[in-house]
Amino acid sequence: MTGKIAVSMMCADIAKICETIKTFEENDIDYLHIDVMDGCFVPNLQIGVDYIKQLRNLSTIPLDIHLMITEPEKKLEWFDIREGEMISVHYESTENLQQALAFIKQKGATPVLAINPATPVDVIDGHITNAEVILLMTVNPGHAGQQMIPQMFEKIRDLRKWLDNTGFNNIEIEVDGNVSFENAKIMRDAGADIFVAGSSSIFHKDMTLNENITKLRSSIQD
Ligand code: DX5
Ligand code: ZN
Repeated sequence: MTGKIAVSMMCADIAKICETIKTFEENDIDYLHIDVMDGCFVPNLQIGVDYIKQLRNLSTIPLDIHLMITEPEKKLEWFDIREGEMISVHYESTENLQQALAFIKQKGATPVLAINPATPVDVIDGHITNAEVILLMTVNPGHAGQQMIPQMFEKIRDLRKWLDNTGFNNIEIEVDGNVSFENAKIMRDAGADIFVAGSSSIFHKDMTLNENITKLRSSIQD
């Protein structure tokens, strides 16, 4: 068994986007991870709706859209959500989490519940039946190139244990933030299934894209 890779498109060089996507398709990358940031929920602005629509025309790889926006339930319609995509909304971003997750599911996409590093695992208890994946932030959301918060390794273990002990062993854990070649191995051993790979691995400057993909794959192999 091996983990799945969701490449962080905010880290991709826009000048090489077509050849980058071609390389991802040749390497069976699982998802294109799209960080949508509104400058309110997180201190940054990233990737808008039109970019997402264009990306769908450029690639056959399903999108994993990470919504770091306030009141996502009022904006989900903007994204033309497709079957087979993963759409994550943050626990901390809305009072209407259930409504947001239900809308995503009704569109045939995978509802993903995202939690920030400071948010305890047990908040998901009231929402777990509406999510199919938990996105566990290993950095504070908003910027690539950060260092992972070391306590997050333990948090991944706690989350995996909680899910398995409460009968939700089919729910996958996605990790996002400083998923380096070294961190990915520890994250995998802790129970992570889907790895958001950005500047710390897939787009690492020292090697080619193909070499980085191979190296990351070997880190998340069981
Ligand atoms: C944080 C972003 C980053 C990015 C990955 O909000 O979501 O996690 O995609 O970039 P690195 O690998 O540089 O953390
Ligand atoms: Zn993300």
